[in-house]
Amino acid sequence: MGLIINLSVALIALLQGASAIWPIPTSYEHGESVLFIAEDVSFHWTDTDELYDKNVQKTFQRRFAQDDQWWWASGNVSLKDGQGVTGQEIQDYAIKQTHRTIFQKSFVPWKFHERGWKEPDCKGATYIESIYLELQREEKEEEAVKTRVGDVDESYRLSLTEDGKATIRANSSVGIARGLNTFTQLFFKHTGGGAYTPWAPVEIYDAPVFQHRGLNMDVARQWFPVADIKRMIDAAAYNKMNRFHLHVTDSQSWPLEIPSLPDLAEKGAYRPDLVYSVDDFNEIQRHAAIQGVELITEIDMPGHTSSIWFSRPELIAAYNIQPDWNTYAAEPPSGTLKLNSSEVDDFLETLLDDLILRISPYSTHFHTGGDEVNRNAYELDDTVRSKEYSVLQPLMQKFIHRNHDQVRRLGLTPIVWEEMLLEWNLTLGKDVIVQSWRSDEALAQIVARGHKALAGNYKYWYLDCGKGQWLDFDPSVAADHWPYNDYCAPFHNWRLIYSYDPLAGIPSSHQHLVIGGEAHMWSEQTDPVNLDRMVWPRAAAVAEILWSGAKDKEGRNRSQIEASPRLSEMRERLVAMGVGAEPIQMPYCLMEGTQCQLGYKP
Ligand SMILES: *[C@@H]1O[C@H](CO)[C@@H](O)[C@H](O)[C@H]1NC(C)=O
Ligand SMILES: *[C@@H]1O[C@H](CO)[C@@H](O)[C@H](O)[C@H]1NC(C)=O
Ligand SMILES: *[C@@H]1O[C@H](CO)[C@@H](O)[C@H](O)[C@H]1NC(C)=O
Ligand SMILES: *[C@@H]1O[C@H](CO)[C@@H](O)[C@H](O)[C@H]1NC(C)=O
Ligand SMILES: *[C@@H]1O[C@H](CO)[C@@H](O)[C@H](O)[C@H]1NC(C)=O
Repeated sequence: MGLIINLSVALIALLQGASAIWPIPTSYEHGESVLFIAEDVSFHWTDTDELYDKNVQKTFQRRFAQDDQWWWASGNVSLKDGQGVTGQEIQDYAIKQTHRTIFQKSFVPWKFHERGWKEPDCKGATYIESIYLELQREEKEEEAVKTRVGDVDESYRLSLTEDGKATIRANSSVGIARGLNTFTQLFFKHTGGGAYTPWAPVEIYDAPVFQHRGLNMDVARQWFPVADIKRMIDAAAYNKMNRFHLHVTDSQSWPLEIPSLPDLAEKGAYRPDLVYSVDDFNEIQRHAAIQGVELITEIDMPGHTSSIWFSRPELIAAYNIQPDWNTYAAEPPSGTLKLNSSEVDDFLETLLDDLILRISPYSTHFHTGGDEVNRNAYELDDTVRSKEYSVLQPLMQKFIHRNHDQVRRLGLTPIVWEEMLLEWNLTLGKDVIVQSWRSDEALAQIVARGHKALAGNYKYWYLDCGKGQWLDFDPSVAADHWPYNDYCAPFHNWRLIYSYDPLAGIPSSHQHLVIGGEAHMWSEQTDPVNLDRMVWPRAAAVAEILWSGAKDKEGRNRSQIEASPRLSEMRERLVAMGVGAEPIQMPYCLMEGTQCQLGYKP
């Protein structure tokens, strides 16, 4: 056995290149022996009844060539008409990705070594020939098919011996996938060809701190091709996130095909071709599920719905009031679903029946929105004609009950934004998860009322902040708004994001109700051109807080000095995967250990 170094005690990463795994595992010990990995490495796994021998180069090609094109098509997942995914498929996909990541999407780590560094010599090297995957208990069909909240045990043990035997043990297929993900992060590309790890032997036990670790992507303010969404899902999964929240409709556009209401997207999308078809939507959900990521779809309502007006004007009140739209909505165009209309009820019944039946093979949640509802809009609602809280509140309660009853009837658990509970004081079912965004106090109030909550304080975890205003100001008022900062400026750099502890300020008796959180990519000023760099690597900082917790083993705030070289390495891995993630430091800082710091105390 080589020298075993406990990373959590020694800041060894600072001295000799990062032995970087992101997010940082629960426990991680490694040595300093070099092992190469054979390109025809075989994957063996014990399933409940059989021992399969799977060789990526040969067996898989034979096994998948006929019916499953996706195996060799880069980035393509088969379209299997809404059947969900099985544990076997999750493992197959993880094996394929592992091979591809190590041999095709890796990088030469010169940035993490001093000038003059030499790569390990491959002459006479020991090779890893086999990887053993052990599913430790029988996986029930329904567990594998859906990534149920909190029900999937994502923990894994990874062991790599000095003579090249790699073993990953887990209690679920998703756990195997998480372990393989970590395994890929041990390897670097060699300029002479092939890949190696300098860290053998390795022993890791790992499990997430929070059960809901998500990225929210707004695909309504701007249009994003399916490939962009899939790339975000891949990067989120590579950071061990397990939820992808698709904010799929909003006031500005309705890009989601609903076959029973075809005009919705045909008229409500920015263009009739900028629409996620039923097949697109299925493909996105499947692409997430096969990586152990649950796609959570949000139809935000009753506010944020003006795009419905293009097909069903009779359902929307206060549509596009100008010039003072801001009396009626948070953003133009103003407009809200009418609050006392049986036509709205019928519309929602049709919409949710259609949509949720296509969601339920992949997901256990449905997000019914509920943020930023503007009461003034209901003064212009011919079914209500009032902005009084006492008039509106019971109608809102009815609206939510109707929606949530339907969501439950179709087998899913509702999620809402915090305003429904805290501003409208609605009675929500005990099952409802409340997503917080406005403050830590709000998060504390949600859990104090006994609801499960998702953290995501906008002052920390909103990725859109600091770009400046997207509104144009008339010259007569422009000076009042100078220098045109946006509502959540400044830009939230990764250190700020990383400093956020979702449990700070939550009494310990309520902490179990904070089930996780999300990073949010609102897209007013983000489109396919700048998407990657707006999200990555900053969302990775959220991913580590949610997987590993905001405090280290000694209960201290996590150190930027420890995290920074690891995050830089994750950034290089994302770039190698084809994600345009920004750098966070100069190579000089990474090459020279602790030079780029202030206040370092070894
Ligand atoms: C994905 O599949 C489609 C249709 O089968 C094909 O046209 C496309 O080239 C594939 N994409 C990649 C990246 O392999
Ligand atoms: C698997 O489940 C067992 C029993 O609940 C638990 O002790 C173990 O930590 C879990 N994870 C792994 C990787 O073994
Ligand atoms: C809601 O609509 C019903 C029937 O259309 C009407 O009788 C009732 O007064 C309305 N409620 C409010 C608060 O306007
Ligand atoms: C909210 O509702 C609770 C009971 O459901 C009530 O006690 C409380 O006074 C209400 N608060 C407001 C602001 O209406
Ligand atoms: C740790 O981080 C929290 C924010 O989560 C901050 O309030 C606190 O001051 C930090 N503690 C120390 C010792 O720096």
